[in-house]
Amino acid sequence: MAIKSVLRMGEASLLQVAERVENFNTPELNILIQDMHDTMKNEEGAGLAAPQIGVGLQVVIFGVEQNARYPDAEDVPYTVLINPTIKPLTKETEEDWEGCLSVPGMRGMVPRFSRIHYQGYDQYGNVIRRDVVGFHARVVQHECDHLQGILYPMRITNFRTFGFTDVLFPG
Ligand code: NI
Repeated sequence: MAIKSVLRMGEASLLQVAERVENFNTPELNILIQDMHDTMKNEEGAGLAAPQIGVGLQVVIFGVEQNARYPDAEDVPYTVLINPTIKPLTKETEEDWEGCLSVPGMRGMVPRFSRIHYQGYDQYGNVIRRDVVGFHARVVQHECDHLQGILYPMRITNFRTFGFTDVLFPG
């Protein structure tokens, strides 16, 4: 069990494109994923990408069940997703609030595709293929953006929605 510190926006490495994982189920990969899991749980995040703990590999994890940060979000199964690709299944986008452990204390409204297909691998190299909608689709798009060096504030179209969580949502 190792809780890592999460890099914050401004760190140059968060803007880099992550590299593909070539070998699955290695001790190094499994430790990375355990560390990411422990760190995400500790921070009560909905997802985490390896670059956020300083590892430039295409690994994301996500999952939500009754998360204190996202009380209204539907459940998303805990997933380890490696070398992911995303295909939008619609041109339709929807706006909703996002936050990020690398942008602590803030929220903003971000447009995302409402239906996507994603695929990738779990840590053992098994293929994962899913068609998802809504919050699940949003989380995947957010986490996969990290692998391209994109943080959610770069996706905000109306900066009037960007602010500090406790000011936006008092009480
Ligand atoms: Ni994030």
